[in-house]
Amino acid sequence: MVRRVIVMGGALDPQGSAARSIAWLWWFMLALSAVVFAIVMGALVIGVLRRRTDLADGDDDEIPPLAGPPASRSARAWLAGGGLVLPVVGVSAVLAGTIATMRAVDADREEPAVTIEVIGHQWWWEVRYLEGPGAGVVTANEIHIPVGEPVMLRLRSADVIHSFWVPQLAGKMDLLPERTNELLIDAEAAGRYDGVCAEFCGIAHAHMGLAVVADDAATFETWARAQLADAEPSPATAAGAALFTTHCATCHTVRGTDADGTDGPDLTHVSSRAEIGGGVLATSAASLHEWIADPHALKDGVLMPQPDLSDAQIDELIAYLLEGQA
Ligand code: CUA
Repeated sequence: MVRRVIVMGGALDPQGSAARSIAWLWWFMLALSAVVFAIVMGALVIGVLRRRTDLADGDDDEIPPLAGPPASRSARAWLAGGGLVLPVVGVSAVLAGTIATMRAVDADREEPAVTIEVIGHQWWWEVRYLEGPGAGVVTANEIHIPVGEPVMLRLRSADVIHSFWVPQLAGKMDLLPERTNELLIDAEAAGRYDGVCAEFCGIAHAHMGLAVVADDAATFETWARAQLADAEPSPATAAGAALFTTHCATCHTVRGTDADGTDGPDLTHVSSRAEIGGGVLATSAASLHEWIADPHALKDGVLMPQPDLSDAQIDELIAYLLEGQA
């Protein structure tokens, strides 16, 4: 909950060109509505004060009629100005600002340097690098991009409707089952930008977090090379690897091994990701233990079954995930 509020607040701290345009529109509309609000409140105060003066000046305490046809010219001018001119000018200004922002965030505005497919699942994000440096990388919930470069996200869903939202970088975009939507993002500075699913998609919707990590070109390419490499399980964690094959491989892939399930996130090099479970916990041996022992306690509704493993077996599995397949 707190994470979601903090993430959403990022919309007013833009770090990408699309988010900057949207934040500009937001401030513009706030300023415009503040002006309209001030005019309306000013007119109201003037009206109340005048009425008081009229009543005080009256010879008797007869109250003048409240309603009636506007007789005077000035009354008609007020109606025309406040009821017609002001709304037309105000709404036209908002329309012009909106059209300018729509053009500024259009996915065709620039040639992308990297193209990434992002597939929404209940309740995690599948990330597949299609073109540009890193093509071939498959990961989950953590999208690495080169800083300052336009990155095309091709968004779709494997099940229900989700919505991709990293407020500091761009606006929301839906992920739909039967069509692909495009969102062009860029990050102006290196850093980690948290995101959420912004469309209610089932019980664990609130635990469908993601992050975009923007790095300089060299760091990004180093990351991509490391991700592309197959896992190389070490003999020291063979026991954990065997447990993974029997308990996890039907749903999870570890490239370079026999594990090739696709129902859950690809876990090749999972130790390189900062979080697990769609942002539920920071990656560590202790949090992985908590997660594997009872995923439902941490993320109600999660589709991962609780594996039938002893504490010692879970620790062997974690040794394999964190150290054994670097
Ligand atoms: Cu996916 Cu909400």
